[in-house]
Amino acid sequence: MAEDNQAVVPLAPLKFYPRSDEEFAFKPIKPRQDKRSKCLVYVLAGIVFLSVVFLVIALVMRPRTPDLGLSLVSVKNLVYTNNNASFPSFNMTIQAEFTIDNPNFGQFVFENATASVLYRGKTVGEAKIGGGRVSAKETEKIKVKVDVRSYRLSDVDNYSKDGILKLSSYANFSGRVQLWKIVKKRKTASINCSMSFNLTSPAFDLQDLICS
Ligand SMILES: *[C@@H]1O[C@H](CO)[C@@H](O)[C@H](O)[C@H]1NC(C)=O
Ligand SMILES: *[C@@H]1O[C@H](CO)[C@@H](O)[C@H](O)[C@H]1NC(C)=O
Ligand SMILES: *[C@@H]1O[C@H](CO)[C@@H](O)[C@H](O)[C@H]1NC(C)=O
Ligand SMILES: *[C@@H]1O[C@H](CO)[C@@H](O)[C@H](O)[C@H]1NC(C)=O
Ligand SMILES: *[C@@H]1O[C@H](CO)[C@@H](O)[C@H](O)[C@H]1NC(C)=O
Ligand SMILES: *[C@@H]1O[C@H](CO)[C@@H](O)[C@H](O)[C@H]1NC(C)=O
Ligand SMILES: *[C@@H]1O[C@H](CO)[C@@H](O)[C@H](O)[C@H]1NC(C)=O
Repeated sequence: MAEDNQAVVPLAPLKFYPRSDEEFAFKPIKPRQDKRSKCLVYVLAGIVFLSVVFLVIALVMRPRTPDLGLSLVSVKNLVYTNNNASFPSFNMTIQAEFTIDNPNFGQFVFENATASVLYRGKTVGEAKIGGGRVSAKETEKIKVKVDVRSYRLSDVDNYSKDGILKLSSYANFSGRVQLWKIVKKRKTASINCSMSFNLTSPAFDLQDLICS
């Protein structure tokens, strides 16, 4: 009986031999497969190309925060008194120049801003800065003048330690980065600086200006 089964097996494949008309149906498939794989290559190449294009667009369109710097600081009319005749006090005028560096491929339009000078976190002077714009890839310079008065502080202090008066300044510019009128993203550029004035030096030297 086993021999009978074995005899049957070789016959089975015969069932799958194509008939002559099936062979004709088979032949045209080969060129179609070539076309199909070529087509696939084109589609893949297209996808890769579009991905690169979108990646470049995404990198270019990604709104970045403009960089705010403090390029110049000069002090005028610094008066510091600390004697028995009057309360300790200081007055001065700080002239500074901010730079707004716009790294975007679109303009940065900023609103009214404030630059503040602080003593121990309390405001002793403020400058109002009107809104404006920085063109794509440009750097804008903004000059400000701040009148600093210690009487704006409610508590009387010695203000200086070892002849050094420490102040800080803070400014931020809020606005929108506009890229081809499609993307509008709110960004705030800010700067926080600390500065020290040497009150024992004849010109009240500005000794350290550290910004972050
Ligand atoms: C203030 O007055 C006291 C005594 O009246 C004196 O010893 C001190 O040196 C004076 N301080 C200043 C800063 O003038
Ligand atoms: C600081 O300025 C204010 C107002 O301008 C004035 O009243 C004050 O006397 C000045 N103080 C000093 C130490 O010059
Ligand atoms: C910006 O400041 C100007 C002048 O100080 C003022 O006229 C204007 O209303 C301010 N704009 C905003 C949005 O606060
Ligand atoms: C100012 O400093 C003197 C000594 O340098 C000290 O005796 C005095 O209490 C201080 N005053 C204030 C208001 O901190
Ligand atoms: C900008 O600075 C002001 C104070 O000068 C502060 O109230 C505000 O939160 C700051 N804005 C941002 C976005 O940091
Ligand atoms: C600025 O920096 C000082 C210390 O470096 C910090 O105490 C202060 O909170 C900062 N101010 C702002 C507005 O970030
Ligand atoms: C401040 O200036 C004086 C005079 O120019 C100098 O002798 C002193 O060392 C200075 N102080 C500091 C902390 O640098």
